[in-house]
Amino acid sequence: MPFSRRSFLQQSMFTAAALAHQNAVAKSSSIGSVNSQSIEARVDALLQRMTPEEKIQMLHGARRRGFIGYIPGIARLGIPELALTDGPAGVRHGTGTAFPAPVALAATWDRSLAQEYGAALGAETKAKGQNILLGPMVNIVRVPEGGRNFETFGEDPYLTAQMAAAEIRGIQSQGVLAEVKHYAANNQEKQRQIVSADVDERTLREIYLPAFEAAVKDANVGSVMAAYNKVNGVFASENVHLLKDILKGEWGFEGFVVSDWGATHSTIVAANNGLDIEMPGDAFFGDKLLAAIKDGKVSQSIIDDKVRRILRIMMRFGFFERPPKPGPIDYRAQAQVARRVAAAGVVLLKNQDNLLPLDLNRLRSIAVIGPYADRATTGGGGSARMSPLVSVSPLGALADAVGTRTVLRFLKFVPGNDLSKSDPATTGAGLLADAMQIAKECDLALVFARDFETEGDDRAGISLPDEQDEMISGVVKANPRTVVVLNTGCMVLVNRWAEAVPAILQAWYPGQDDGRVITDVLLGNTNPSGKLPISFPHTRADIGIATAEQYPGVEGRGAYSEGIFIGYRHFDKENIAPAFPFGHGLSYTTFDYSNLKLSRSRIKPGESLSVEVQIKNIGRREGAEVVQLYIQDVQASLPRPVKELKGFEKVTLRPGQAKVLRIDLDSRSMSFYDPAQKRWIIEPGQFKVLVGSSSRDIRLTGEFEVV
Ligand code: BGC
Repeated sequence: MPFSRRSFLQQSMFTAAALAHQNAVAKSSSIGSVNSQSIEARVDALLQRMTPEEKIQMLHGARRRGFIGYIPGIARLGIPELALTDGPAGVRHGTGTAFPAPVALAATWDRSLAQEYGAALGAETKAKGQNILLGPMVNIVRVPEGGRNFETFGEDPYLTAQMAAAEIRGIQSQGVLAEVKHYAANNQEKQRQIVSADVDERTLREIYLPAFEAAVKDANVGSVMAAYNKVNGVFASENVHLLKDILKGEWGFEGFVVSDWGATHSTIVAANNGLDIEMPGDAFFGDKLLAAIKDGKVSQSIIDDKVRRILRIMMRFGFFERPPKPGPIDYRAQAQVARRVAAAGVVLLKNQDNLLPLDLNRLRSIAVIGPYADRATTGGGGSARMSPLVSVSPLGALADAVGTRTVLRFLKFVPGNDLSKSDPATTGAGLLADAMQIAKECDLALVFARDFETEGDDRAGISLPDEQDEMISGVVKANPRTVVVLNTGCMVLVNRWAEAVPAILQAWYPGQDDGRVITDVLLGNTNPSGKLPISFPHTRADIGIATAEQYPGVEGRGAYSEGIFIGYRHFDKENIAPAFPFGHGLSYTTFDYSNLKLSRSRIKPGESLSVEVQIKNIGRREGAEVVQLYIQDVQASLPRPVKELKGFEKVTLRPGQAKVLRIDLDSRSMSFYDPAQKRWIIEPGQFKVLVGSSSRDIRLTGEFEVV
């Protein structure tokens, strides 16, 4: 039966041709722009006037209905309240814009989009009368099953650091504090409240900490959330090495540390070891903390330091002048940012014989098959879940786009049926037969598949759930002209059908505009330019992290025995071909790489150099390419990855247009963390520069020497 186009459109507010895009990115960040001496003097004066009880009041949450985290103000002293809200895929205080999942933002590889995404989040936070946003989440994808992988920026520390710093700048440009989370090594949901990430110092520094370091040093993040888990046997919320030695010591972090919700486990130890605020209640940092001060177990100067950190940041951000106050939200402008990010994050994994984009003039009928094609994939579950005001499903958007030109035949493939069971009339086997029949009768089949990632629960496996593999295999058997769209929060196994399916799109959780974003790519209104921030394996075993000791851990301890070799670092080391490599993503046009030039061929340790490369669009459409730069340390005294991402640039080119891109390499790009010397070092020797379109599609190489 032909599908009626009207019934699936849930709203039409975005159909107006051009909505003015609000440039939400403020010109300068409010942090750092105020005279710090006068701020410290103001803090001193306030501290002198505060009673011990007033100080303690600032160091823990006071539960308030409708608020995720709340610290009341102190009217007598003019101290405003702090209102904390989730984060990181939208502003969770009430309904609001469902932005694409952070993993989709990472797939854009576009710093300026990350900044806009942050600015839009910041603007909505402010308009909802909140002043701290609990994001971004910068934990690294270590375990493929990880229930919160959709909230991350993927498997690479450099990409994560770059996107996180840009997003934080955006959030904070709105006078709202970002709270980067979860510090540190919070990489699984199984036993997340108790598991210890047993991780060596080098791995911590090279893989799990760089994004936090960038948040502090490059983006001046105002607050940091301490993770649920332990790190090397000590809870993150009372881990002196993480909080005092590294964060507040080495990195010079001047803001405050908040425990994840319910992640505080002690009063004296946590207070002395660097935690500043307990959330969401006062089990440890309320009366017990007051008593600990009276007993001399926690010194006054430690308390004052905590309060100072909070007040200082509140002043830097102008909270005293602008206490949180709800205001109007420009939801159209918000929706536009969400849609542009989602579009730029779609990754074209495969496009045999240029099946995509679809030419509607040549398609009389399209089968639309999938359990959720008629529902928007607005996001994952848990504290990042958003309830958008509006959403558009793929089916709705497709119907709108094809109009009466092409017939859409929709089959809702109800999940949960065991296809191997007999009675085909009442079980999924009957449905599969129907799906195959419809696919066969149509000119093309579009299959939508998804998974459900959520906080609190890791995925049971990394295959698509609910017989969707069988669904895809069956449909492509019935009609080889099949396009698969994946709405998943991380990688999934595609091996059972990827050979046979000519075109595959990875669309992640695109947020409220799911349908329109995907439709634009399918029809060629958007030329896909996303690149994978994670590797897709052929099999689960290919990823490593295969023993129970590594994941989920044994007796509460997870051994990070793979060290720095996760993601593509592991695939490269073991010489395993991924199904789709890190950095991979096709376009409807083609790019040519040429003229690699290094500014210098010999440098001294600590010196920088720059790399230039020319990119030309040699196809027939405008498109954007992400030029990736990897470094290989040819000989090193410690094992180093075959290659590591150290630079990237995204460039949009018209057909025939060429541009020379410059990527600067600083000394950190060549260094590794030497646990013996307890510092980053650069060893003299040869280095290779690998420039390409993915981690496995290196187009040009160069060399330099550190002497
Ligand atoms: C999550 C945090 C979140 C907090 C508040 C916790 O369960 O781990 O990411 O910000 O809840 O909702």
